[in-house]
Amino acid sequence: MSAYSSGSAKRTTPQQILARKGGEPIVCLTAYTAPMAAILDEACDLLLVGDSVGMVVHGLPNTIGVTMEMMILHGQAVMRASHRALVAVDMPFGAYEGSKEVAYANAIRILKETGAQAVKVESGPEIAETIAYLTRRGVPVMGHVGLRPQAVLMEGAFRARGKRSDEAACVVAEARAAAAAGAFCVVVEGVAEAVAREITAGIPVPTIGIGASAGCDGQILVTEDMLGLFEWTPKFVRRYGDLRGEIARAVRGYSDEVRARAFPGAAETYFARQKA
Ligand code: KIV
Repeated sequence: MSAYSSGSAKRTTPQQILARKGGEPIVCLTAYTAPMAAILDEACDLLLVGDSVGMVVHGLPNTIGVTMEMMILHGQAVMRASHRALVAVDMPFGAYEGSKEVAYANAIRILKETGAQAVKVESGPEIAETIAYLTRRGVPVMGHVGLRPQAVLMEGAFRARGKRSDEAACVVAEARAAAAAGAFCVVVEGVAEAVAREITAGIPVPTIGIGASAGCDGQILVTEDMLGLFEWTPKFVRRYGDLRGEIARAVRGYSDEVRARAFPGAAETYFARQKA
């Protein structure tokens, strides 16, 4: 039996996200597990099963090693525990760049095996054609421009893009191409405010910013970053909690009490019934 009720609420659709262009800001967070998805679902319009799961949950140095199987497993967990938010699943590195046919087969596998409503692709100029191929065949797609974590091997590091004017023009063109190809929204990561505002003003679909200023139609953060689970977070993250401190305090309390034989106590102990 599942601990998570399917509920009766209807999920947000890609069309509803699209209709929010220029309207009420769109609230998005990453989710990888069922318990976290159940909590976030109440407050979010969109949950992204990001390939950042590789770094946040699996301890990988970047997202290159993330596989289709990982994305599907985490996508299934998030879908089981959420019932309101739109769930989008990242296509991992290697799952969509080779050809649009391979991209389509992998996108369909993600949608069928997880039940999610959309996929996300990091959309350099060469990916617009693939986005068009997918959207024309019934696959809702989120684009992702600016800092593209899957480009780390080519860039040598995670690098904000668009500081130089020629590079800014490329990022704007990539966002336009993704929107023209049918993406229902575009994640804009790690760009200067002026670039984010230019993209937001220049495309007909919502921009979802991460490290891209308040000039976007919505915002997304890695949930564990904003909850304060890690010692280091990027400059653009605001910490809304201190999960690391809370967990450390709780674990210290537990270990102190186990060592002092104060846990378990009578309240946490089963006792045999006395014979009558
Ligand atoms: O993988 C991810 O979590 C992402 C978001 C941070 C946008 O791509």
